[in-house]
Amino acid sequence: MSGGDKLDFEIRPNPAPVSVADRATLLADPGFGRVFTDHMVTIRYADGKGWYDPRVEARAPIPMDPASAVLHYAQEVFEGMKAYRSVDGGVTLFRPGANAARLNTSAQRLAMPSLPAPVFLDSLHRLVEIDREWIPEGEDGSLYLRPFMFASEVFLGVRPANEYLYCVIASPVGAYFSGGVKPVTVWVSPNYTRAAPGGTGAAKCGGNYAASLAAQAEAIEAGCDQVVFLDAVEQRYVDELGGMNVFFVYDDGTVVTPPLTGTILPGITRDAILTLAAEAGHRVEERPVSFADWQSDAAGGRLREVFACGTAAVVTPIGQVRFPDGEFTIGGGEPGEVTMGLRQQLVDIQRGKAADPHGWVHRVL
Ligand code: PLP
Ligand code: COI
Repeated sequence: MSGGDKLDFEIRPNPAPVSVADRATLLADPGFGRVFTDHMVTIRYADGKGWYDPRVEARAPIPMDPASAVLHYAQEVFEGMKAYRSVDGGVTLFRPGANAARLNTSAQRLAMPSLPAPVFLDSLHRLVEIDREWIPEGEDGSLYLRPFMFASEVFLGVRPANEYLYCVIASPVGAYFSGGVKPVTVWVSPNYTRAAPGGTGAAKCGGNYAASLAAQAEAIEAGCDQVVFLDAVEQRYVDELGGMNVFFVYDDGTVVTPPLTGTILPGITRDAILTLAAEAGHRVEERPVSFADWQSDAAGGRLREVFACGTAAVVTPIGQVRFPDGEFTIGGGEPGEVTMGLRQQLVDIQRGKAADPHGWVHRVL
């Protein structure tokens, strides 16, 4: 069957899965993104034919012609989400419909075909189902799912490809930042920007991350965990981190995050935090925050907390900010109360420990 909203997956179980004992060893301390499950999903696409050949099969290298378009022009988009063990023993996803929608917005920006949301959701269900034993136990553990799509056509001309491969791989993960929920230090890059108006900042495409690596290397060199990007036009306003959105909490309880103007990734965690903060009685604002104000409000004590958020980072306090001319501390470098409260609320909903009035939790098993 091909092309429609529903595809019949061919299931080819891995004939040589990792042994139970080896899996247990790997799951004891998986880190982030270095351990992978036994299976993957693949679906092919060709112009005129649509999506076809949907499979769940053994995770294995993908043979690739050296002239595959993605290797030259980076026509690739991806998503990042997690499967959680729920307190009742089930397995859930958090707002996967939002990931389906964002994958397609990203695909449209990169001139790629869209993948019907039901096919996207089905692909996640299939993989989580077959690899469910790979979901780590424990508070910080989850199965990180990485759906991605790339131009597989063998062609060196610069135009949208007419063949694509969609894949999903899964990686059991612990906390993204080692050391648990302790405040991280961020680097405000003087040299690099991430996304300009009209560019691909709002798309989740590999190229954005390739372009962030020199800045991230600069951050590591300066002893920081993550880079913060300022806007590309004036280098004045805070956009986001290399792989997370950013929030500011003021002494009057106002919670602020930069607006979605096209240069920032519309984070699904960001959206949930905006809702949770408003429900907790905070005034929430989506407005630009300048780096100068960040600095002076932190010094003056008006700015109490800053945190990063995203699927990988969940909610992570930012304790210190460095830049070429100096550094400053936020909230004495300790995790703030509002930050930790929002984090707990989010995690409790994701794990089925708290009510889910918005229908964010999607049951897989
Ligand atoms: N911003 C960037 C650049 C990211 O890579 C991510 C991670 O996906 C986010 C923000 C947060 O998005 P989400 O909350 O949907 O994971
Ligand atoms: C995520 O949070 O899912 C991300 O994609 C961030 C990073 C691992 C790329």
